[in-house]
Amino acid sequence: MDIIELKSLDAYYGNKKILNNINMKIKKNKITAIIGPSGCGKSTLLAALNRMLEENGGSTQGEIKFDGKNILSYSKDDMRKRIGIVFQKPAPFPMSIYKNLTYAPMYYGIQNRKKLDEIVENKLKVSGLFEEVKKDLNMSALRLSGGQQQRLCIARALTVEPEVLMLDEPCSALDVKNTANIEEMLLKLSENYTIIIVTHNLQQAKRISDYTAFILDGELVEYDETETIFNAPRDKKTREYIEGIYG
Ligand SMILES: Nc1ncnc2c1ncn2[C@@H]1O[C@H](COP(=O)(O)OP(=O)(O)OP(=O)(O)O)[C@@H](O)[C@H]1O
Ligand SMILES: [Mg+2]
Repeated sequence: MDIIELKSLDAYYGNKKILNNINMKIKKNKITAIIGPSGCGKSTLLAALNRMLEENGGSTQGEIKFDGKNILSYSKDDMRKRIGIVFQKPAPFPMSIYKNLTYAPMYYGIQNRKKLDEIVENKLKVSGLFEEVKKDLNMSALRLSGGQQQRLCIARALTVEPEVLMLDEPCSALDVKNTANIEEMLLKLSENYTIIIVTHNLQQAKRISDYTAFILDGELVEYDETETIFNAPRDKKTREYIEGIYG
């Protein structure tokens, strides 16, 4: 089943066209990787999907559907809740681990302490951090290591029960072990969430994604099952990118 559908999507910053005529359907509860050279429009695409682009001074033409309805028919708040995002540089709020995880649920109206405690424990378990931090929930999140901070940010994004989790190069500042932890987590999460990951690490796209989209200069060159993209791409430009000729 498709959770997101892009129809003839163009994206602009001012009058500069960044994405041109993107058509793609994103499958529910699968991992979709977005690859392509720096500046091709990957982050712009993610920003369009949860209506962040408008806030960054951009605009779109064409249509984005989420669960069958145009995203403009949802409020920005609702879109942000349904489609969470985690960025490259882990940025926990400068507050305790506990408060990082209760901030959004409280914003959305949950006050019951027991319910909040449950959310904290559950999301820390999902992100594989619980055992490491269960005795330090009141410690500042800024004292965690980079890899732990990134797992906390993923846990935090999950506290509002999004349907889609987008990650923009989540592992590029992490070492091999932390990267492996996050990949393992994403594979497990894909049972219950739709995951869209932008990555410069082609091996990572190959290891964890079901589908891969290759973008070049704002155009969707090729979009297919990951296996096809890496083993039998139809487009010469895809093959050249996979072989390391650009980017
Ligand atoms: N806020 C902005 N205002 C104006 N132009 C922008 C803005 N953000 C990005 N751009 C431009 O949009 C184009 C695509 O940028 P984008 O960040 O989507 O690329 P990317 O594929 O994510 O690159 P990278 O791999 O380096 O993160 C670039 O030409 C960039 O300069
Ligand atoms: Mg980017």
